[in-house]
Amino acid sequence: MIWTALKQRSKEVSNRRITSLFEGDTDRLASFTIEWDGLYFDYSKTNIDLSTRNLLIHLANSKNVGQYRESMFTGERINFTENRSVLHTLERNTEGPEVLIDSKAINKEVQQAQNRFLSFAEAIREGQVLTRKGTKFIDVINIGIGGSDLGPKMVTKALTPYADGPRIHFLSNIDGAQTFDLTKGLDPETTLVIVASKTFTTLETMTNALQVKNWLTDSLGAEAGKHMCAISNAREKCLEWDIPEERIYTFGEWVGGRYSIWSAIGLSAAIALGKDNFEQFHEGGKSMDCHFRTAPAHGNLPMMLALVGIWHNQICGYSTRAIIPYEERMEYFPDYLQQLEMESNGKVVKFDQSEIELPSGPVIWGGTGTNGQHAYFQHLHQSNIITPCEFLIGARGHEKSNLETHHDYLVANCLAQSEALMCGTLSEGKQNLPNYRNFNGNRPSTTLLYKILSPRVLGQLVALYEHRVFVEGVILGINSFDQWGVELGKGLAQKIYPSINDKNHQESGFSKSLVDLISKTHEFRENIN
Ligand code: F6P
Repeated sequence: MIWTALKQRSKEVSNRRITSLFEGDTDRLASFTIEWDGLYFDYSKTNIDLSTRNLLIHLANSKNVGQYRESMFTGERINFTENRSVLHTLERNTEGPEVLIDSKAINKEVQQAQNRFLSFAEAIREGQVLTRKGTKFIDVINIGIGGSDLGPKMVTKALTPYADGPRIHFLSNIDGAQTFDLTKGLDPETTLVIVASKTFTTLETMTNALQVKNWLTDSLGAEAGKHMCAISNAREKCLEWDIPEERIYTFGEWVGGRYSIWSAIGLSAAIALGKDNFEQFHEGGKSMDCHFRTAPAHGNLPMMLALVGIWHNQICGYSTRAIIPYEERMEYFPDYLQQLEMESNGKVVKFDQSEIELPSGPVIWGGTGTNGQHAYFQHLHQSNIITPCEFLIGARGHEKSNLETHHDYLVANCLAQSEALMCGTLSEGKQNLPNYRNFNGNRPSTTLLYKILSPRVLGQLVALYEHRVFVEGVILGINSFDQWGVELGKGLAQKIYPSINDKNHQESGFSKSLVDLISKTHEFRENIN
């Protein structure tokens, strides 16, 4: 019923200019912005008015978002397909209320796990844990993929101004080229290797880890273990890999891979940034949790970000969403959100096993401004496909003196783009342009302004998007915390591998196209000059 009302509403307003909403409501900015704890979210440049927003909030209430939210924070097994709780929030707030799993309080255990990896990070930074020759580690390789890569990689890059520890490198792809290019520039005598895998079974990670372990062993022999550690919740598997017990950093099974940056998976970032900065990152996440749990819907950042997303994708039918941080160090943020959102909500089967009849979330993509302006912005402004854009920008950059003007240009460009998307050429009074120069405008965007990209602000942003994904998932009635859709391809790759590795291997059950591609691969291999 409520979905029908929203669809009806979108039809009614489809030809309305967003700019007209400002003319009809002098308080629009007060109503369609949220300022909270140093963040300012402006969603006034969307076609949402008060009655639409009421409908959207009514939708969230009708789906019991508030109740599910409490179930998540209190450790109920809301990831029902895997019979697990969802408690990444506990990783950033062990001092909060006791959380019980099977009647056992787990806060203390989580705090101890946090202390262990953060102390290790400090010991590496301070030179209390040294290489086999007694020198400080200069480089660290984090081997992991998906959440075991994107989280620490994104955070380490975003917080470069705070990074004063060893250099951190990330190895994720099973492509041997990445391993080759990375190891050729590093010295095993001064490199620490972290194997980061929640399950410790992921093909890419285990294959790369074996390769890098051999690279270490070639130089360090039996002492290679002194340059390795593991992060996983599969302790036994790490032991089988000869990782010494004291070098295994664990976290709970109730922390999903794409939500794991708060846990020991953040070790590489903590080595780069130090314990205090990593704890500031936690502080930011924790404060967003508190806001999410207590703020009324219309002033609640994750709630409104989610409802704007629902409006654009499920109601208006816009099938993609661009994430555009105007901050070069946020280079990996769109990739991070891509996994967070698409692996969480790219599903159709609902809690009750029926299928959703709406789009199952947008394609998430993006990149940093201003680079994107010279690449895909043409499409954003003049194609006939509407892509809602989410801009993020810091009021200040970290760089001082002559580089400050760069940041002024950065802000000016960011604000210019959202203005141009909304107003088109009308705002310039250029109604008589040839068609090819015309910008119709009326394209929705949101802007999230923060003061400066500090560890605490980044923590707020990551938690904001985590909760946004949660709200969208609850409204759609899907389990955001499993990822069964990645299994089929993984299994097939294992089945196809022998035929690639050995030309004479016979396998049945493959499609004609697959058989042909396998034989073409062998034919090409034999004909490389
Ligand atoms: O792609 C599936 C997935 O399980 C992700 O959810 C996860 O982040 C990634 O693989 C890595 O998993 P692991 O940490 O267990 O190696």
